[in-house]
Amino acid sequence: MIYIYLAVVLLTVCFCGVLLFGAPYLPTLEKQRKTALDLLDLKKGQTLLEPGSGDGRILKLAAKRGINAVGIELNPIMYLVSLLVTFRYRKKIKIVWGDFWKVDWPEADGIFLFLITRYMPKFDEKMKTGRKKPVKVASFAFPIPGKKPVKEKDGVFLYEYR
Ligand SMILES: C[S@@+](CC[C@H](N)C(=O)[O-])C[C@H]1O[C@@H](n2cnc3c(N)ncnc32)[C@H](O)[C@@H]1O
Repeated sequence: MIYIYLAVVLLTVCFCGVLLFGAPYLPTLEKQRKTALDLLDLKKGQTLLEPGSGDGRILKLAAKRGINAVGIELNPIMYLVSLLVTFRYRKKIKIVWGDFWKVDWPEADGIFLFLITRYMPKFDEKMKTGRKKPVKVASFAFPIPGKKPVKEKDGVFLYEYR
């Protein structure tokens, strides 16, 4: 009985604790995963960053297309799941366990996001400082307030930061 109790506490902490820092775990659907990568149109050898990389399936899809992918995931359970999901592509994928607001972001050519409305302005602010090169951003479901998307398809908004 104590083990069930501990498991429930652990799951609650991992999945609900994340709400203090960002969006809860909810995976992007397969169609939108493909749409996001199509819109970003990254070339082989370029780098995709995914803050809040969940189960790692977007990182895996990117790696299958020859793109280097970096994920940052706070929920330790999803972090471990994503290591398993992406194991075969581990040479092209790096996943960091941590809070993406605190971890240093690598220079990326494209960013995929699935956050929630309240964190979009904070993301927009972060994109305005400390970048060395232009970056494309695909956001599923949540537009960036006050910024005009260059394209939109299947609920994925594409932006360019120059
Ligand atoms: C809505 S889910 C999206 C998962 C994945 N990006 C996808 O589209 O399938 C948001 C993910 O971000 C993670 N997350 C939320 N806040 C975070 C933070 N501050 N740092 C790192 N990961 C975070 C959650 O644990 C969750 O896995």
